[in-house]
Amino acid sequence: MSGSCDYRCSKVKNKQKVQCTAEVPKKDGFAHFMLKEIYEQPQAFQKTLQGRIQQGKVKFEELNFTQEQVKKWDKIYIIACGTAYHSGLFAKSMLEEFLGVFVEVEIASEFRYRNPLLDEKTLAIFVSQSGETADTLGALRKVKNSGATTLAITNVVGSTISQEADYNLYLGAGPEIAVASTKAYTSMLIMQYLLSIYLAQVKGTMPEQKKEKILIALQELPEKAQQILAQKELYPEIIQGIKNAQSLFFIGRVFDYYIAMEGALKLKETSYIHAEAYGAGEIKHGTMAIVTEETPVVAVAVQKSVYEKTLHIVKEVADKGVFVLAVVEEGDTEMQKWANKVIYIPQIENIVSPVLAVLPLQLLAYYTAVARGCNVDQPRNLTKAVTTE
Ligand code: G6P
Repeated sequence: MSGSCDYRCSKVKNKQKVQCTAEVPKKDGFAHFMLKEIYEQPQAFQKTLQGRIQQGKVKFEELNFTQEQVKKWDKIYIIACGTAYHSGLFAKSMLEEFLGVFVEVEIASEFRYRNPLLDEKTLAIFVSQSGETADTLGALRKVKNSGATTLAITNVVGSTISQEADYNLYLGAGPEIAVASTKAYTSMLIMQYLLSIYLAQVKGTMPEQKKEKILIALQELPEKAQQILAQKELYPEIIQGIKNAQSLFFIGRVFDYYIAMEGALKLKETSYIHAEAYGAGEIKHGTMAIVTEETPVVAVAVQKSVYEKTLHIVKEVADKGVFVLAVVEEGDTEMQKWANKVIYIPQIENIVSPVLAVLPLQLLAYYTAVARGCNVDQPRNLTKAVTTE
């Protein structure tokens, strides 16, 4: 391998298998790769969507599943680590709803050391930006030879996981250099929306109208993401309530909770502030005892079906004098009465809104880390691809 290979090559274990592009990614005027990659998301969304929506249907050249095959699956596992694991939580909800099949999302480092139920009626989906994470690869190897069908979602061409799975969907988000994943995460979300619809399409269980609405919304994402990214002037002020905290909580319900989990992870890994996410209702069961004026709360309240429920918890913590930052949809007038700061995201078909709601949380993590003088692209003790066990 030549020294002029794609930067990704130095990050992965199985170097020989990685296709080299001879191009070393540059920051292109951005202060850090993380910021550049956050701003590359509209293009990354387009790449992930490219050619995959045709005449109102989802098309995957890489997949040739028959209706018989999809009908056979009576359980689906989604297996991943870190940010990729967070992306799988969305697919669980969608696959269960669209396909009517039981879905479990599993942390690869746990899954591989237990005895999961696997047979020819199982579909196992492995999500990995690098395609080289040791535990995800270990889990894939455990599933192989069980009769289950394996499908990988990866971002690095030629990675080990993409090669060893029966099927692979390539994200095409472009090289991600910063350790904290941003554009790969949102591309994983989009890919899993597409995959959920595709499988339901093949099975014949996806209502046309619902599919149409989601596909239209997915194509609106790049432009609406631009609108959020254009508001960078908000953050220097917003982070004032966060940057000196030692600990904070992210809350939300269902999809908003999954976004909260990702927001907490981003903040933790880039700024070294202790951050935990809770299902908004669950915070009352113990954790509320340590919610004080010293622990800011970030509330994600974008899902209409659970908005009132999350608002209720926001009111409760605001009453304790806690600094609250909320992410809501444009047009919301209620949250600002309770939260200290509110970030508005453009309205979009509700099921797709998480892809937008996470962008302010990525920016929050980035600007907080910069304000705290952290090594944003290469946080201490972390690596881009964890290839050792
Ligand atoms: C490391 C990275 C994370 C990533 C995780 C899984 O911990 O720092 O950003 O989410 O590995 O990586 P993968 O390449 O499998 O998505």
